[in-house]
Amino acid sequence: ILQLIAILLFNNTAADSRQEACSLIPEAWRFDCYPERGVVVTKELCEARNCCFIPASSPASSATRPSRRNGIPWCFYPSDFPSYSLVSLNDTSLGQKGTLVRNVKTYYPADILTLEVEIRYETNTRLRITDPMNSRFEVPISVPTATKKAESPDYIVEHSKEPFGLRVKRRTTGRVLLNTTVAPLFYADQFIQFSTSLTSQFIYGLGEHRSTFLHDVHWNTLTMWARDVPPMEQTNLYGVHPFYLAMEEGGNAHGFFLLNSNAMDVALQPAPAVTWRTIGGILDFYIFLGPDPGSVIEQYAEVIGYPAMPIYWALGYHLCRWGYNTSDSTWEVVKSMRNYGMPQDVQWNDIDYMDRFMDFTFDSTKFATLPDLVKDLHAHDQRYVMILDPGISSTQPEGSYWPYDEGLKRGVFIKDNDGKTLIGKVWPGLTAYPDFSDDVTHEWWYDNLQRFHQKVPFDGLWIDMNEPSNFLDGSTNGCPSNSLENPPYTPGGLQISISVSFSLNLLRVDRIVLFSSSALKRIVAKRPFVISRSTFPSQGMYSGHWLGDNRSQWKDLYTSIAGMLTFNLLGIPLVGADICGFGEEPQEEMCVRWTQLGAFYPFTRNHNAIGTKPQDPTAFSPLARTAMKQALLLRYSLFPVLYTLFHHAHVHGHTVARPLMFEFPADVRTYGIDKQFLWGRSLLVTPVLDPGVDYVDGYFPEGLWYDYYMGDSVRSKGEELRLHAPLDKINLHLREGSVIPTQAPNMTLWVSSSQPLHLVSALSDDGSASGDLFWDDGESIDTYETNQYAYIIFSVVQVLTLNYNAEATYITVETASFYGVKEKPSRVLVNSQDAQFTYRTNQVRSEVMGEGTHTQEIACC
Ligand code: NOJ
Repeated sequence: ILQLIAILLFNNTAADSRQEACSLIPEAWRFDCYPERGVVVTKELCEARNCCFIPASSPASSATRPSRRNGIPWCFYPSDFPSYSLVSLNDTSLGQKGTLVRNVKTYYPADILTLEVEIRYETNTRLRITDPMNSRFEVPISVPTATKKAESPDYIVEHSKEPFGLRVKRRTTGRVLLNTTVAPLFYADQFIQFSTSLTSQFIYGLGEHRSTFLHDVHWNTLTMWARDVPPMEQTNLYGVHPFYLAMEEGGNAHGFFLLNSNAMDVALQPAPAVTWRTIGGILDFYIFLGPDPGSVIEQYAEVIGYPAMPIYWALGYHLCRWGYNTSDSTWEVVKSMRNYGMPQDVQWNDIDYMDRFMDFTFDSTKFATLPDLVKDLHAHDQRYVMILDPGISSTQPEGSYWPYDEGLKRGVFIKDNDGKTLIGKVWPGLTAYPDFSDDVTHEWWYDNLQRFHQKVPFDGLWIDMNEPSNFLDGSTNGCPSNSLENPPYTPGGLQISISVSFSLNLLRVDRIVLFSSSALKRIVAKRPFVISRSTFPSQGMYSGHWLGDNRSQWKDLYTSIAGMLTFNLLGIPLVGADICGFGEEPQEEMCVRWTQLGAFYPFTRNHNAIGTKPQDPTAFSPLARTAMKQALLLRYSLFPVLYTLFHHAHVHGHTVARPLMFEFPADVRTYGIDKQFLWGRSLLVTPVLDPGVDYVDGYFPEGLWYDYYMGDSVRSKGEELRLHAPLDKINLHLREGSVIPTQAPNMTLWVSSSQPLHLVSALSDDGSASGDLFWDDGESIDTYETNQYAYIIFSVVQVLTLNYNAEATYITVETASFYGVKEKPSRVLVNSQDAQFTYRTNQVRSEVMGEGTHTQEIACC
């Protein structure tokens, strides 16, 4: 009896001390041991996993999991939860290679008990940590291979043996960028999980989600699995981008990229920390040391590939809708745009141009005049883009539909487990899915495009539904019953109900973009234009992206800025949302404000859903029409700026639409800004995002800013200013020290881009400014790579000078404005000759509203 009491007492004491140890873990640092959704996590379930169970104070707990935004987990790992041990570590030519061993199995099936981990010091700013076992699925994108260890890395890697963990520090500051010892490592066949600390709560990227630009780290789980679903909060959307940018103190930044395309959850918690949880592939991640946000993105682009240089007209205004219903009514809109002198470079058609929604066909009755419409567009220097969906109709009588017949013959379609063509359902009804991982499919896709191009000479391609979308639950035969369809852990609580053959990896279908781009290049022999709904890292090399099926709501207008900025971080700068909203119908005022903002999307397209009223600019009142026209003309006049920014994206990996924090990383007040943004380093856009107002509040980082239109200046101490914003105005400011090239706008970029330049110089206090221009023929392939371009640097130091690599015979500077000239000059000379000039003094108060709190100074005179 005494022995029994002693055992009970001992057990009680052990249980008490374990409970005490559990309770010592601060709530913010509790890592979820029971992330499965839809399970009521009881003490028994939790303890069966040998985890700590403490109901937390917050109402939204893991015990109830009312939504994907979890609360503090009630069931979490104790600090001694078994993990891997490092049993050996050897030097390699690139760094080190270690062997990890797990002695205690986890509660997930098929633990991989022995792991290799390679630490590769790839460059001074890039570290790669990978598991080189090679026997598991790896993402088939090509990444640079380092051949020798970086000589003076900006990082230090430390490891602990038992349990195994890594700490990566920034050498200059000693700041721990991430630490994997915060929670146990799991590596089972279908469950890989690791956690790391974060440097701050300022974390960005992790697409594709509808959220603010700055992610919320308060128990916020972001699921990644490409999916056809209209943008809504707390759910995974069309694309997958396991990359984040994080801020450190003092304005330093670093990036993290998990090269894995399996369904995953990325759980953020306020410690701050992050947990990556994926159901396949390997552990393979990169850390980019920056040290400023822009450099992080450049380093990321070096790995995933630089964005394509767009063909010039890609940057013009695009008009689209689902439900023009006929080619004649499409044509009517084009004509009406011309009548009103509205800029338009590209007309699009949605699936209604097709014969019964079948790819590579057009409706010979309703769209009989389509070839003529395209001819007419070309005659007016305009372009035509049409939609294609990856699903190919599989139900047409044999011999009547070449794409399917030929696809079957060439064996391009994805097969089910029994080796039969897998059939799902998209727009045309039952469909087969081309296997885009196969080069045979490449040729078949090209042949289809080429054949259709002979009938309708389209200029660009819109790839929709390529998540891949499927209206069925699985194939026509349902879902196979196997472990791939029923993983032990399901990210996001999703029903992963698509069939194994194409749930294996999303790249199989995303390669449709690569194939479309290369086929188009062969067909039109110009830079290919492709816009895709689903995206994955590296896709910026081939396509742009639109943000999917938004709605005509003010909130969607606002969230489009975060979406646009995020995709600029993710290496796909050619991005924009459906202007005026896809679903529902916009009020006129909203559509005007949206067109103003949309004029500053890198990719600017108005598109709406079937069954909704027309929302092209000509559908509105004269007042609204004029305001929209003004916004579009403004964009066209800034084409040289935008084109040059895309050149820098293409060559250096720079962002085009840029968050303010990129230019002002030391100013923490810029970290959460997603109602304003910059084009490049110098053009600040402050759109109106609310109804019924004629003003807008915007943050101006410290410095001198000039109203773009009038040149009036405002000196900010780093403060919010109220700006006058009547319906026909979008506020635009130029940062001191910049020179931007502009052109007289016209109805197409073909016409306006042949106009002479007007330079606008916004002088710093010391009278200096600089800027640049990349210029080529706008459409030939690889002009930079083959040296067929002019690059001009403008600099003002008392005198405006132009330095160029090659004489640009096809572009001239005709006029120039200088903002911030403190005294009226007596003479202005151009190439030593007297030139005509006018001088105007600053009029700050007409442009910036309000008194008192809004400090302004007059910069000149
Ligand atoms: C879904 C796309 O997101 C949308 O833009 C398009 O209009 C419809 N599919 C119809 O093709």
